[in-house]
Amino acid sequence: MSAPSELIRGLPKAELHLHIEGTLEPEMMLEFARRNGVKLRFGSVEALRAAYDFRNLQQFLDLYYQATAVLRERRDFYDLTWAYLEKAKRQTILHAEIFFDPQAHTRRGVPFADVVGGIHDALRDAKRQLGLSSKLILCFLRDLDADDAMAVLDEALAYKDRIVAVGLDSAEVGNPPAKFRDVFAHARREGFLTVAHAGEEGPAAYVREAIDALHVSRIDHGNRSLDDDALVARLATARIPLTLCPLSNLRLRVVDDLANHPLRRMLQKGLVVTVNSDDPAYFGGYVNENYAAIQAALRLTREELFALARNSFEASFLDPESKRALIDRLDAYSAAH
Ligand code: ADE
Ligand code: ZN
Repeated sequence: MSAPSELIRGLPKAELHLHIEGTLEPEMMLEFARRNGVKLRFGSVEALRAAYDFRNLQQFLDLYYQATAVLRERRDFYDLTWAYLEKAKRQTILHAEIFFDPQAHTRRGVPFADVVGGIHDALRDAKRQLGLSSKLILCFLRDLDADDAMAVLDEALAYKDRIVAVGLDSAEVGNPPAKFRDVFAHARREGFLTVAHAGEEGPAAYVREAIDALHVSRIDHGNRSLDDDALVARLATARIPLTLCPLSNLRLRVVDDLANHPLRRMLQKGLVVTVNSDDPAYFGGYVNENYAAIQAALRLTREELFALARNSFEASFLDPESKRALIDRLDAYSAAH
């Protein structure tokens, strides 16, 4: 895999598709297991890395949920989030919008307040100490019932000041967006923005449904959108962004080869696409490695790289002035390089 160039490493950018549980590096997993007295199926970093050979999304999810068992205390969520933010800072991420999966924790008896509290404190400290801004997005596990999601949403209402949006993740096929129509309607009435994973393994029809039934502001992945020309035209006209994750797509076999990744075709069709890392501890790279891999595979031009970074700010949930300030930094970087 090509190492990120100096241009990519210094490129000001936002990350918009990042599961905080997906940043749990093997070393951290073993350390948390030790300090919390949790038994893991894997005894070493090597054994863990060897298990990261996934045939599809479900195989990955099975391991990902098992690994969350080491996250027990509020400080685990703080340490996990802080470690990601330090890495993000080193990768010139100026702003991060971070998913978390509360149901993966509350179903093991971890209080919702500890999950949100630990993550939030790290985000607050990163703003002060690293100058890195962020937003938090609560994801519902779509393979669980809508009633379950509604109960989580009720719990989240007390944390409205800390959570900007709700999303939808986990096993996609057989769990269409419309299953969560009422939950998302309630969330929107309560002032949350909405996003959803769609068109990762599922069909273009799920992308359509996420827009029509859930009124999402962004689509996470959305690879399969290209199967439907009318949908592509709609995504382009409405400027609904797609948060693409190239290395994730490769490792979960959503694409057979990065040379066949839809990113370039999407750019050419006028879609607002961004580059993100999804679950970097499992897929072999953080955001800069994703930029480097997709640039090498598709021979992206300098202009295309800058367009992707610009899209990342434009597609964010920042207010217009904050977006402007970050895009100005990108423009200054462009002028200097
Ligand atoms: N949860 C964590 N990563 C995910 C992905 N790539 N797709 C769906 N759910 C996820
Ligand atoms: Zn994801």
